[in-house]
Amino acid sequence: EKGGYDYFMLKEIAEQPKAVADTLLGRIDAGGSLTLDEVRISASELREMDKVVIVACGTAFHAGLIAKYAIEHWTRIPCEVELASEFRYRDPILDAQTLVIAISQSGETMDTLMALRHAREQGSKVLAICNTNGSTIPRESDAVLYTHAGPEVAVASTKAFLTQLVACYLVALYLGQVRGTKWGDEIQDVIRDLSQIAGSVERVLETMEPVRELARSLADKNTVLFLGRHVGYPVALEGALKLKELAYMHAEGFAAGELKHGPIALIDEDLPVVVVVPSPRGRSILHDKIVSNIQEIRARGARTIVIAEEGDEAVVPYADHLIRIPATPTLLQPLVATVPLQVFACELATARGNEVDQPRNLAKSVTVE
Ligand code: M6R
Repeated sequence: EKGGYDYFMLKEIAEQPKAVADTLLGRIDAGGSLTLDEVRISASELREMDKVVIVACGTAFHAGLIAKYAIEHWTRIPCEVELASEFRYRDPILDAQTLVIAISQSGETMDTLMALRHAREQGSKVLAICNTNGSTIPRESDAVLYTHAGPEVAVASTKAFLTQLVACYLVALYLGQVRGTKWGDEIQDVIRDLSQIAGSVERVLETMEPVRELARSLADKNTVLFLGRHVGYPVALEGALKLKELAYMHAEGFAAGELKHGPIALIDEDLPVVVVVPSPRGRSILHDKIVSNIQEIRARGARTIVIAEEGDEAVVPYADHLIRIPATPTLLQPLVATVPLQVFACELATARGNEVDQPRNLAKSVTVE
């Protein structure tokens, strides 16, 4: 049932292009518009929403962090993202004009369930993004957009994450569509890019051998840091989470701009630092900033592992290891940039003799608060 792979995680990483394509299937019509009829919150209600609040845990929370960039950029609706476990304890401001999005692979995560119950009690509409048909979270929500990743068995979430991102982008674009905000060339372009993205994920998977080799060479390290900016920041958090849960290594993700506010003191001779570099096209200011961050950490002796778009030559002089990903618009880049980090963590876990599919102390779905 592992389909010839040693671990479910490897199988699930390999299934990502299909999972992404399946999650888009039937949701974009021939004219390039979105048809999300399943979202049973009416267009007029969606037009009334003045705030979006996303609640989730772990990897699903990271998908939510990325969704915030897309939702605010494409729809101009303010969006907050909160750890489900923190949400209801701080008396959050919620009303009928707040759209709450609960993201969960399993649909059974107790923290997320309690957060959505709290939101509904306050009169907010809840849209679930979920991978498990008929599970508790979609059953208790007002509407659901299912991700079509298929069953995810490995405790470490991989294909579910990519499909959560796709679902978040679809919701963001749909909100833009029904509200008519910024609905124009950019959004049409995004829909086109999104419908081609499965091919880019496939291309990343074909070039992962050097990443595996690199991971094996780092098996005796104690710490790995991850840096990113903009949507690369949640990708860095996700890379660090994967490494913690699979390799049992100390790993942290930082917003690259925060380096000089503290974390740069951690940089030591030969410390591996993974940097997620945004596309040099488009908002190139972001790219320039991160190139100077890479220079800063390398000048302090770090071993730089740089994930950058094909054709990005500016990073070459500062990269001890260069991992190439296909050119992708910045907001969609997490769909390709996360994949090498999954492979990296999986290989490190294997090299350190850890149980890949069932890491110690963890359960696939966390049904207690
Ligand atoms: O089933 P859910 O998406 O609600 O689960 C949330 C987290 O428990 C989950 O993403 C966890 O962080 C993963 N093990 C990370 O790989």
